[in-house]
Amino acid sequence: MIVYRPFLHDRKEAYLVENYPKMLNDIEAFYIVQNRLLEFGKMAENTPENHGLKRTKSERLYNGSRVSRHGSSFLEVAAVENFTWWNPTIVIFGKNTIPQIADQLAAVKAKSVLLVYGGKAIFKNGVYLQVTEALTKKGIAFPELGGVKSNPTIDKVREGVARVKASPVDAVVPVGGGSVFDTAKTIAAGAFYKGDPWDFFEGKSSELQRALPIFGVLTASATATEVNNIAVVSNPEKEAKTSFNSPFIFPCVSIVDPSVQTSLPEEQTVNGGIDIMAHAMERLFDGAEGAGLMDAQGYAIVKSMMELIPELRMNPENYDARAQYAWAASLAHNGSLSCGRGTKGDFSSHKLGHSLSLLFGVPHGASLAVMMPAWARYLYESNPVPFARFAEAVFGVEEGSDEERALEGIERLESFYRSIGAPTTLRELKIGEADIERVAKNAAAFAPFGVFKSLTADDILEIYKLAY
Ligand SMILES: [Fe+2]
Repeated sequence: MIVYRPFLHDRKEAYLVENYPKMLNDIEAFYIVQNRLLEFGKMAENTPENHGLKRTKSERLYNGSRVSRHGSSFLEVAAVENFTWWNPTIVIFGKNTIPQIADQLAAVKAKSVLLVYGGKAIFKNGVYLQVTEALTKKGIAFPELGGVKSNPTIDKVREGVARVKASPVDAVVPVGGGSVFDTAKTIAAGAFYKGDPWDFFEGKSSELQRALPIFGVLTASATATEVNNIAVVSNPEKEAKTSFNSPFIFPCVSIVDPSVQTSLPEEQTVNGGIDIMAHAMERLFDGAEGAGLMDAQGYAIVKSMMELIPELRMNPENYDARAQYAWAASLAHNGSLSCGRGTKGDFSSHKLGHSLSLLFGVPHGASLAVMMPAWARYLYESNPVPFARFAEAVFGVEEGSDEERALEGIERLESFYRSIGAPTTLRELKIGEADIERVAKNAAAFAPFGVFKSLTADDILEIYKLAY
């Protein structure tokens, strides 16, 4: 299959980078696609429909309405903002799909790729062997960059960027979970960038004009990095863990074989599941009116995870449960749940959680199990309707006022987290009361942030206190 063939007619030569070795036709075509993405990305931001027909803030929010039942009709909640949605990633999903990574690379005539991975897991579960045998069969060279850790750091990215600048490759191939993908995506972006890749995380990703193509094999589902344009990386020297996004870091191809995830440790399945739920809820709780269909998609992801996580704790080898979990992960954060929402989500809980991961090494999912309920408790009274609807749709809470149902929903969410062995307080994470100010200060470096409520440094401190 020649993936990028429709774009071959364009001005190929104009997009080759100075000093970068001449690439073969199909790789050149990739850069033409990238240019299209860049143009389209800019266009999408600026199309009149994205600036016209906007509802005023009071029209967009639930303001004043006490008719908060999510109801049986999709017509009851229906405020669909204009949107532009595009996602260029090809997903190849299912059992025994991993060797197809080599077919896909061969289709674009890649001769050499940087293989990026973490620790021992891919050697134990046979994925390393599957990938390298397939690449060898197709005659594709694969210099390796192993040792990516969870909560990946910018040092590893810099190492990878130096490698691909010194010995150019045709593509970057992450084989692993979210940390490996995010490292590889940032290396891909850094390959053509003259400065330090940390610049992307400080607002300079808009300067990117291209990146190396990314062809990945996912071995742990959660973050949806396999289908989105986001990378999250830490910089311990600057005490920062943050993300950047760019149209150039959408993977071209992501292979997802859920059967290799059956050997994941239970804790990772739990934490990944909490992350997936958070990605759906952060759209539902963004203060926008939303629409029946879009909200129902979010509720369905949350409800499915509430069945799948307990099932996979009991029966980690249940393939069909693994497969639904894996696809829920991709759906929750591929951008489609933001469609039609005026505010496109409120990711404050992620930002609050990142400081816990950075300073105390808390796993991403665990940080969300603690911070999301605390965040919700802090502000639900200002606008209980989305929380009340959630309580009704997900937990069947039908009795009481909006405020009462909202709080009941938050409490049930916390007890679900506890039921799967997740922490819900800072205390359980062994973070002392004396540490709260330091964590709050770290998170407040990005303040104000948030859409449902714009959080100031004072708000952030109060939320961490609530989480204690
Ligand atoms: Fe996440």
